[in-house]
Amino acid sequence: MIHVITGTDTDVGKTVATAALAARELSAGRRVAVYKPTQTGVQSSEAGDAQNIAAWLGHPTGLLVAEGIRLREPMAPLDAALVEGGSAAVAMLPALTDHLVRISQLAADYDTVLVEGAGGLLVVLTAAGANIADLAKALGAALVVVSRPDLGTLNHTALTLEAASRRGFASGTLLLGSYPAQPTALHRSNLENLRQLASRHGWRWAGALPADLISGETEKSLLNAAMALT
Ligand SMILES: Nc1ncnc2c1ncn2[C@@H]1O[C@H](COP(=O)(O)OP(=O)(O)O)[C@@H](O)[C@H]1O
Ligand SMILES: [Mg+2]
Repeated sequence: MIHVITGTDTDVGKTVATAALAARELSAGRRVAVYKPTQTGVQSSEAGDAQNIAAWLGHPTGLLVAEGIRLREPMAPLDAALVEGGSAAVAMLPALTDHLVRISQLAADYDTVLVEGAGGLLVVLTAAGANIADLAKALGAALVVVSRPDLGTLNHTALTLEAASRRGFASGTLLLGSYPAQPTALHRSNLENLRQLASRHGWRWAGALPADLISGETEKSLLNAAMALT
């Protein structure tokens, strides 16, 4: 099974959610591959999202993490390539078929493939203009949308689900990436509104990941949080 994890924005908790989903799959005895098609904003020696996931989960056997391409600038993929190496670097970005071949190879060897997009659903990944939605569609993948619990999330999430519907995703899974331990009335009403929004779109509402997962016993916290998702 291939899942594409996208979000309403950058920094919404896609990587943390991907790690939690990986923990749940691994605990069920499944082999998991995590693929980051375009990793921006990290130097070649630094850990990117995929490597962070492996570290948080304690480098378990049964988990493989891989990247399509890495770009140094903390920018959208095409712009990061342009700044790094001009139009030649843009032309060197993997094409949609390159990602599809790579992910198909992973899907042949692993029970579950989790693809963490860059930014949100319509972020362009390739020189030809293919975005995360195109990648998910071409893969026939299940779509997971990660949202924020804060002010502004209702509009961002509605826009994302509407764009997904328009692109032919009849369903998907919606979850909150980081829900505070002491939610305010705003957080509580956002959570309820997002649950209803998911239901109106025919999407599965998976609930919320607690906001304190990346500290202390991260591996155990991620698994517990993932098991509490519906
Ligand atoms: N549930 C959570 N618990 C702890 N930290 C979180 C949680 N969700 C997000 N974060 C932190 O917030 C930041 C952004 O999360 P991340 O998963 O990297 O977002 P994205 O992948 O959408 O850019 C990171 O520093 C991450 O560790
Ligand atoms: Mg990320």
